[in-house]
Amino acid sequence: MKKQIILYYFTGTGNSLRIAQVMQSMFQKEGLKVSLLNIAEEKTLLLDLNHAIVGFCYPVYSFGMPRIVKNFMEKMPKASGTEVFLGATNGGGIGSAVIQGWKLLEKKGYVLLDSESIEMPNNYVVGRIPEEEECRKQVRAGEAKAEAFVQRLLAGGTKHIAKTGGLKGLLMAAASRGFTRYLPSMAKKFHTDENCNECGYCETICPTKSIILMEGEPKWLDTCEQCFRCINYCPRESIQTYGKTKGKRRYKLLPFQEGQK
Ligand SMILES: Cc1cc2nc3c(=O)[nH]c(=O)nc-3n(C[C@H](O)[C@H](O)[C@H](O)COP(=O)(O)O)c2cc1C
Ligand code: SF4
Ligand code: SF4
Repeated sequence: MKKQIILYYFTGTGNSLRIAQVMQSMFQKEGLKVSLLNIAEEKTLLLDLNHAIVGFCYPVYSFGMPRIVKNFMEKMPKASGTEVFLGATNGGGIGSAVIQGWKLLEKKGYVLLDSESIEMPNNYVVGRIPEEEECRKQVRAGEAKAEAFVQRLLAGGTKHIAKTGGLKGLLMAAASRGFTRYLPSMAKKFHTDENCNECGYCETICPTKSIILMEGEPKWLDTCEQCFRCINYCPRESIQTYGKTKGKRRYKLLPFQEGQK
């Protein structure tokens, strides 16, 4: 195995970052150099990828890849055989999130080494956020799966394509195509309730800078990726959407400082 890994990630609520960190430390224990780079950072460089193995870790949105990750992959330079691995964190329904990334990169000349579906707590407040103890168990299981994935990569095992198969998989693939198209209209559904105290924290932690405060009131822009960081991290649980989030549990795995993407 090559000695350098470039590991790109995108995260809303910390699951994908945590998994990327677990993978980073596993590789480092084996003496490999790992650069962990956030896709949402403007300063994230497309480094010289020919001398490294390239990894990705990102959340699943509507059974597909986040738009920001897809756009990033599309901008990557052409390769001739650079090896890649993909890890997609999700709440139990990976759909085509790995296949989409794999196909896109394959067209550019990258070769898939392996991929994994890493189940973590669901952060989609519109659905159901698991109770705290359940979340802890899921995180531990996700970390263990990430470690096993790295061991497989180090051992050079057989290629595994993480996906949902059968009719369910086909339906999920169709759902994922609609998601990107409707992102702008989904951003318009976000709003605050009477509990918002105009603190501005949501504006500072949005990884895509898609919230602006207008006369103190948060407004959402089309660039929103639906990562759900704002809705989960608002200290007053004031952000709502689709009429299905009021009073529901929020999910926060890692703390995000102001300005952190
Ligand atoms: C808008 C949205 C859509 C989601 N869609 C799916 C999905 O289709 N399948 C799934 O298993 N999890 C889905 N999830 C859950 C996330 O993929 C999962 O919680 C992920 O680990 C979050 O990663 P992060 O903390 O790095 O943002 C969705 C979450 C959001 C916010
Ligand atoms: S973080 Fe919450 S309370 Fe603060 S401005 Fe944003 S929506 Fe309002
Ligand atoms: S506006 Fe909220 S959901 Fe959209 S990208 Fe920013 S933090 Fe994520």
